[in-house]
Amino acid sequence: MDAKNWVSVVLFTLAFTGFYAIILLPYSSNGVLGELRSLIPDILTAWHSTAPKALQEEAAGRVILSPNLTTCHQSLSDADVPVYCCPPKRESEEAFIDFQFPDPSSLTLRIRRPAHLVDDDYIAKYNKALSIMKSLPYEDPRNFMRQANMHCIYCTGAYNQQHSNSLLKIHRSWLFFPWHRMMLYFHERILASLIGDDTFALPFWNWDSPAGMVIPRMYMNGSFRDPERDASHLPPQVADIDFDYVESGLDPQDQIATNVAFMYNQMVSGAKKTELFMGCPYKPGEEGFCDGPGTIELAPHNALHTWVGSNLNPERENLGAFYSAARDPIFYAHHSNIDRLWEVWRGLQGAKAEIHDPDWLDSYFFFHDEKSQLVRIKIRDVLDITKLGYDFQKVDLPWLNARPKPAVSPKIARYMLKTREDDQNVLPRHTTDKVGFSFGPEGRTLDTAVRVKVPRPKILRTKKEKEEEEEVLLVYGIDIKKDVYVKFDVYVNAIDETRIGPESREFAGTFVNMRHGVRLVMNRGDATVKRKTNLKLGISELLEDLEADGDESIWVTLVPRGGTGLHISIDGIRIEYMR
Ligand code: C2O
Repeated sequence: MDAKNWVSVVLFTLAFTGFYAIILLPYSSNGVLGELRSLIPDILTAWHSTAPKALQEEAAGRVILSPNLTTCHQSLSDADVPVYCCPPKRESEEAFIDFQFPDPSSLTLRIRRPAHLVDDDYIAKYNKALSIMKSLPYEDPRNFMRQANMHCIYCTGAYNQQHSNSLLKIHRSWLFFPWHRMMLYFHERILASLIGDDTFALPFWNWDSPAGMVIPRMYMNGSFRDPERDASHLPPQVADIDFDYVESGLDPQDQIATNVAFMYNQMVSGAKKTELFMGCPYKPGEEGFCDGPGTIELAPHNALHTWVGSNLNPERENLGAFYSAARDPIFYAHHSNIDRLWEVWRGLQGAKAEIHDPDWLDSYFFFHDEKSQLVRIKIRDVLDITKLGYDFQKVDLPWLNARPKPAVSPKIARYMLKTREDDQNVLPRHTTDKVGFSFGPEGRTLDTAVRVKVPRPKILRTKKEKEEEEEVLLVYGIDIKKDVYVKFDVYVNAIDETRIGPESREFAGTFVNMRHGVRLVMNRGDATVKRKTNLKLGISELLEDLEADGDESIWVTLVPRGGTGLHISIDGIRIEYMR
């Protein structure tokens, strides 16, 4: 056999034995594979002509963010308790296929509807699908607990990344929206196939609209019920979508008004740039790590996880802890609303919102489809929901015009802030200069509210400049001492922060940590790396409304919530500009 024929035989064999399994095997593996590996350069040349561009590049050495399926291992819950969510059989031992869009000609568009508006027939249908899913054996990847564990795997970092020891985690960065979209897509398709109804679509928990701000009734019965929820938050209790462990004590009407104003901040004034909404760019390897969730992920997303989960469980399981969250069926309706809000935000922002970075677009993950087939799917595959065959029922967006007003008129506030120059809370040990306010390397604990004056590098920017560059308040060097739930709110030019909340224009945003510490490496013997994190809040519109656009500095107050301040310290605050 001449060399050329030999290569085609090897190629043919590889197509069936799993090409990736071989290239990506650790270099310490046995002799036969070692020999095969030495042939790879030849094989690649032949393969290059047909493979998709990103995969060609990957074979040629470009590192694309993806899980190493051979590495599934025990991981840690949000509170450092070991958890094990790996599938009974390694996914690396299964053959996978690349995601294919459903055939558009035979596609019936599946419409996701608000959970509080669905009818009894729909509930019965979904209930049936879900109970079948729950009754499948655990060995079946379509089983409900297996689905829930997919979330556990990717949220606790049970897989290492390809080509690195870093754990792969899909929260607190730009992976958040697309990864959860993928998970819901396959979950929905499996439910549909279990009842043989191609039109089946998940509902969404419409918590951004007053009528949807309670746990939807359907989640109180049948297979939707989960006993592991906070009993005091069941209907008719109105959700606090910015919950911080402490009951807000607001009456329903005020809670709704606060929620609506908070949504405006998270969807509109605080989310004018892609990174502010989507989260930071998380790239492969240790250097690629980032920890910076977008507005919606922080809250309502995290806040509602905590609000629903049971206060009697150590980590507020089920919904309150990421390892167990997807065991509560309401998880899927919660995320269906997150998925919808991503679409709404893209609609509001237009083309400028889109991410073109190939590192994001080509990042890929693996899920089982309704035929129990392992599928590799890239972020670029899930950016057009029509192609995926679903859409959301259009509902009102009550928050869209709920632009908050200042609690104190800006003229009066200006006068009062002038008299604050010698405030007690400004520690002697700090430097404040053109670049910002720094507490020095030891940082400042948020044992009480911390109030500082922060200089603004640019004042009176033109409308065009503001559109191009968002003014961003950066709280940097946030250190969470013990890995506990913490939360603090940020206010600008507030006169009395103890009396106001998101309904006031002075509120700039919130920081929430759900205890899943920022860990990178968790192989035996490897040190656990913890990192400080940052919070970025868009404030251009807020400064206009507070008539502070011409001021050379602003007052910023950080208010710890829920008695969590002792566990947080920060290094400083400064203003940056984001394109
Ligand atoms: Cu992956 Cu709502 O969490």
